[in-house]
Amino acid sequence: MGPAPLVPAAAYARTIRASVERIFENALDWEHLPWLHGDSFSRVDLIEASSGGWRARVRGQPAEASEDAEIELVLDPSGPRYVTRTLSGRGAGTEIWTLLEPIGEQRTRIRVEFCVPRLEAQIAAQVGRAYVRLYTKLWDEDEEMMVRRTEVLSRPRGRPVGSASVPLGPESGLRERLPLEVELEHETFRVVAVERELHAYPVVCPHLGGPLGQAPGAAGVVACPWHGYRFDLRSGESADGRGLCFRLRARVRVNPETGMAFLESG
Ligand code: FES
Ligand SMILES: [Fe+2]
Repeated sequence: MGPAPLVPAAAYARTIRASVERIFENALDWEHLPWLHGDSFSRVDLIEASSGGWRARVRGQPAEASEDAEIELVLDPSGPRYVTRTLSGRGAGTEIWTLLEPIGEQRTRIRVEFCVPRLEAQIAAQVGRAYVRLYTKLWDEDEEMMVRRTEVLSRPRGRPVGSASVPLGPESGLRERLPLEVELEHETFRVVAVERELHAYPVVCPHLGGPLGQAPGAAGVVACPWHGYRFDLRSGESADGRGLCFRLRARVRVNPETGMAFLESG
């Protein structure tokens, strides 16, 4: 007996402010599911990945009320399109096709087709509506991520040689303005106090450029909302065992005679 025939349950179309290349990169990025889409996914466990797709076990939200599903994503660059298939678990047999049509440098028209195993018409319509609601949210979150990533990648690379310094005013007044974002040599740093000590860390995550500045955590640790990597902002070391670090390229110095604070490179 072959696979059950599929029927279209719904379709969803919109324009995304990203290139096909960026959308393919996002589709291959299985790791962001429970972080960027933390409202929709509670975990992902990778089974295998290649440059053409991935297969993983995923769990929805809330975790206690959800069951694991094994899904695979396969790119078809000639489409360009990709398909997400549910291989087992809730919704097994479902295929979600995403068709891409480039319409500008950073604009792609997408059409998502939700194909489910044959169901009674009313149930298929309900399932279709639920998929459209879910995918509207997922694409909102993905689009924001891709727009930022494109912007981060377009920034000038490399640092000017030499040292630079930005005045931050009297230390006492500075503490009242924390956290504070400061530009230094084309890079943005976030100045914070941890146990009364002033520190400055880069707001661009060293992984794929996520917004580190949005998520200062407790005890001197920052967590990136895109894939959940955590860093000790005082040292730049990994704080989650995944081994990714950032280099501390700036520090806050207070002139002991004048009480004036500066953000300095080096
Ligand atoms: S961009 Fe991936 S963890 Fe920050
Ligand atoms: Fe996503």
